[in-house]
Amino acid sequence: MELKDADDHTITTSSSSSPSSCSSSSADQQMTTTSHHHFGNPSENSEAFSISIIESMKEEYGLFVWPCSVVLAEYVWQQRSRFSGVSVIELGAGTSLPGLVAAKVGSDVTLTDDSNRPEVLANMKSVSDLNNLNCKVMGLTWGMWDATIFSIHQNVILGADVLYDTSGFDDLFATVTFLLQNSPGSVFITTYHNRSGHHLIEFLMVKWGLKCTKLLDGFSFMPSYKASGLSGNIQLAEIVLNSEEWGLKCTKLLDGFSFMPSYKASGLSGNIQLAEIVLNSEEVR
Ligand SMILES: C[S@@+](CC[C@H](N)C(=O)[O-])C[C@H]1O[C@@H](n2cnc3c(N)ncnc32)[C@H](O)[C@@H]1O
Repeated sequence: MELKDADDHTITTSSSSSPSSCSSSSADQQMTTTSHHHFGNPSENSEAFSISIIESMKEEYGLFVWPCSVVLAEYVWQQRSRFSGVSVIELGAGTSLPGLVAAKVGSDVTLTDDSNRPEVLANMKSVSDLNNLNCKVMGLTWGMWDATIFSIHQNVILGADVLYDTSGFDDLFATVTFLLQNSPGSVFITTYHNRSGHHLIEFLMVKWGLKCTKLLDGFSFMPSYKASGLSGNIQLAEIVLNSEEWGLKCTKLLDGFSFMPSYKASGLSGNIQLAEIVLNSEEVR
């Protein structure tokens, strides 16, 4: 079945008689739609393209194109010259529209979401394939430090509607701050619903040594045919480290056995280290 939504996007609803291109059980297929998102006008712009997204109504979060994602994807398209040839990681990507647009305009893209949600990660791979893109897909849970995060070196971090649950804000900011520190000069571009109107995000930026270099009303750059299908107070922020010097530093690092009396050391094993850690720079606070 084909429907048109308020933005003139075609929505193809799969059913048992019209299976979707996503491999899933028939029960899952009935809950699956493929939406099409257009960037640029093909009659005016040879670079114009569209991206197809597999959405699942079964999921509470993640397998749905949230409005923040539409706004961030449009921003990437409008800023496409900046995204050509750079390395991009999308956090909490879900259906991944911004990351897929970045890949389409020439970024090397890694799509990530919660490691504990294999169905979301599998859908990310499916949408990358569906659009003939070669995005990497990996689990990256905010506030968790497995080996893979140390090897990520991006120019741009994207995050659409990743600031929606205040209990997860610190974990998200911890991961973003780590990634920004691991790739000096990089930037976090995020769109979020300012649902409560409070200033928690500004407070957390100060807490994590980050600063906002650009803050836009999400509707200020949206074409009217897309904006009319969206609602809410959506903001776009570009966030960087407040100072490359900010952070923590280690003032002492000792082999744990170097100072243990031998009668105690003999009962212990392993590679135990002791670190003394302080703020790298007090004055920027
Ligand atoms: C509101 S959805 C936004 C999805 C997508 N970015 C969009 O705008 O359409 C939030 C996303 O964050 C992911 N997420 C939530 N908590 C997470 C965590 N602790 N680590 C990584 N991803 C997380 C969810 O799986 C979901 O895909």
